[in-house]
Amino acid sequence: MSDAQKKFYLTTPIYYVNARPHIGHAYTTIAADVIARRQRTLLGESNVWFLTGTDEHGQKVQRSAHAAGITPQQFTDEVSAQFRALWQRMGITYDDYIRTTEPRHVRGVQKLFSELYSRGHIYLDTYTGQYSVGEEMFVDGPPGTIGPDGKPTETVTEENFYFRLSAFQGQLINLIESGEFCVEPEARRNEVLSFLRGNVNQATDSDAPGPDPQTWVGASQKSAENTIAYSAKGTSYLPGALKDLSISRSSFDWGIPVPEPAASTSQKKHVIYVWLDALANYMTALGYGSENPDDIARLQKFWPADLHLVGKEIIRFHCVYWPAFLLAAGLPLPKKVQAHGWLLFEESKMSKSRGNIVRTETILDAFGSLKPKPVDWPGAPLSDEYWKHEQDLFASDVLRYFLLREISFGQDGSFSFDALVQRYNSDLANGYGNLVSRALSMIEKNLEGTHPELHLPATPTLAEAAQKLWNSASTLISSIADDFTGIRLTRVLTSISAFITEVDGFFSLSTPWKLAKSDAPQAREDLRAVLAVTAESIRIITALLYPILPYSTAKVWAQLGLGDIEAAAKNGGLNHLTWGGLKPGTKLGPLGPIFPRADKGLIQIMTNAEQNPIAPAPSKLVDEKTTHTAPPPSESTHPGAAPRTSSLPHDNPGTQVGASSAPVPELAKPPAPHQEAPASGIFATAAAATDPSQENASITIDDFVKIDLRVAKVLVAERIPKADKLLRLEVDLGYEKRQILSGIAQWYTPEDLIGRRIIIVANLAPRKMRGLESHGMLLAASHGKDGKPILATFAETDEIELGSRLS
Ligand code: ME8
Ligand code: MG
Repeated sequence: MSDAQKKFYLTTPIYYVNARPHIGHAYTTIAADVIARRQRTLLGESNVWFLTGTDEHGQKVQRSAHAAGITPQQFTDEVSAQFRALWQRMGITYDDYIRTTEPRHVRGVQKLFSELYSRGHIYLDTYTGQYSVGEEMFVDGPPGTIGPDGKPTETVTEENFYFRLSAFQGQLINLIESGEFCVEPEARRNEVLSFLRGNVNQATDSDAPGPDPQTWVGASQKSAENTIAYSAKGTSYLPGALKDLSISRSSFDWGIPVPEPAASTSQKKHVIYVWLDALANYMTALGYGSENPDDIARLQKFWPADLHLVGKEIIRFHCVYWPAFLLAAGLPLPKKVQAHGWLLFEESKMSKSRGNIVRTETILDAFGSLKPKPVDWPGAPLSDEYWKHEQDLFASDVLRYFLLREISFGQDGSFSFDALVQRYNSDLANGYGNLVSRALSMIEKNLEGTHPELHLPATPTLAEAAQKLWNSASTLISSIADDFTGIRLTRVLTSISAFITEVDGFFSLSTPWKLAKSDAPQAREDLRAVLAVTAESIRIITALLYPILPYSTAKVWAQLGLGDIEAAAKNGGLNHLTWGGLKPGTKLGPLGPIFPRADKGLIQIMTNAEQNPIAPAPSKLVDEKTTHTAPPPSESTHPGAAPRTSSLPHDNPGTQVGASSAPVPELAKPPAPHQEAPASGIFATAAAATDPSQENASITIDDFVKIDLRVAKVLVAERIPKADKLLRLEVDLGYEKRQILSGIAQWYTPEDLIGRRIIIVANLAPRKMRGLESHGMLLAASHGKDGKPILATFAETDEIELGSRLS
């Protein structure tokens, strides 16, 4: 590894303070935290620098403050603290948090402006154009043009400082085309290149704080000359298509003053354009503009940035203006700008101006409720504050997983509470969590909680399956390394998910619960081998998932008996993973549920929380001081870091699952017998089987694995008063007990059912019937013309563990 690669500096955009944070902001910050954590495992703590912060100047902020009846500084102090408190709740491990109103930033921006001015890249000029008073922006067109507010524009003349952006057109095209300045993904690179070449076409953002000068200086389609020039790679562009950029404002004063000597060349007082101000944060935060030796050293070590992570609507600022400012100042360019897509909500971009936002706090509160504080914890009593932070970190993991898994990184994707709950249950509660709990509890029960030696099972079929798993694990480790490097975060998760399914398949195939019942030496050996292979697979999965699920993987790591995952991450223990790292003889830690199942009621709770936000509107921010409950950010290096877990209690095994008090909409009519599944459930069709042609509609294996079929034993069966078709069953899944209502009372008596081992669809969302919750569906075949259901059951003599998955 070359010296240059031994450090990693990454940034998020600094967020505007003219509205409170929403999950769009959390999305970028989460992705950056994932990358930072991964890089720290590779390069060590001191070689990674992760910056975030807030963008606090500009006309919109000044107006919002005015509307709230406070000064802009008071206003920005309030909102910036909210962002910071949210990152603290979520365990975001930023190394520095920059605010553009800080003296260190103001000083740095003025230095950059002076540098550009003294090098001759800035000049004073007047611009006359059509100004829309209603929208406060210049628009293209002749005098009297109708502005965006529907009213005729006025002719306005403004004196401004301009940056000679036009001088950098060819150079920028070359740098991007050669990959020296990397813009990802490709669609965004093409967008930037076409803008630079003279075809304007880009994503726009209605949240920008003021007029975008590029529109009024005229990023005009028409080129003065009709000549064509060619880049080093031989692509053509229109010289002159990139216009100079206005970089000052004199119509308001909430900004950084243009410094001397430039300032006194104008009659008016100017503040520096908010985007020049904002972009400079990436350097001022490191120490640009400071004389302090520590700052100078940090700047030298970390600049240029390795990665600017941004939403796609601000790509032009980061890939045209920012590199041009740096080139003009003689400073090195960032290595890469990576854009991600938009979170959409109710079909359009989630944004404060559209008002269709989802607050992160809603999700933290709802999922945090899945981890109620243990009532009796032996040892030191837990403070409420401590437990609240545990809940927040757990819920934050759920959101991290969901956003990165559900929305293909780089593309737009819809957010919904429904998908959030579903994804959590299927991938974390049933997938990863269930695998961990089944495997570790078998080691606890059968091997005295001690990891056995890792070797292949004696039985050839099992040995072959174990060998396959081992190979898959090795392939996974290297493909994930590539995907992290290429910031293909969704791919990281789909690959891990596929491996979890493979391990689950191996575990089910090996039937360790059967092996455990035998005293034959080969069965004992196989049992030890199967559990060792599964535990080793879990160790690898957990190490790979650490950057994405820092809180939950810490719990699993401790249950594996491996201690503190944060410590392992810091001392290289998660790096250079190889098969076989779990030492035989290691004792498991205390076991307990990691991902309690989420009740569908959570969806309603979150929807309600968004419809009736408790928090005041942004214009009343000043009143919020008294209700502000988030803990003050600490000054440690990682203010919000997930706590170390070795000293933490494990979760209360008696945890009550789900938010069962949640209002669940009542069904108007109970459904007809054996048609309980929603229309989308394939077994609804198979069970009714009236139209054989429907049975043949093909699904992919991916569709099939979404259905979680499990073995369950009927513990209780009883009739429901006034519902002559329904039976109420209580079934045991081994890992949990459920209530299921089933319309089979005409065909089965309760006595027929008690003690029988049946098959249920375990991941069917819970629903209410006759005021009772039904969670799951029985599998049955329809017989005869009246469709009599015949339950799928196992024979008395079949050896099968409750909760086993059918595949
Ligand atoms: O643009 N989907 O700040 P901003 C995905 N201050 N990401 C989203 C999102 C959504 N619906 N909404 C917001 C600014 N984001 C400037 C940046 S940088 C020198 C100055 C995320 O508050 C995404 O990262 O409008 C987007 O680029 C950023 O928040 C915009 O935040
Ligand atoms: Mg924006």
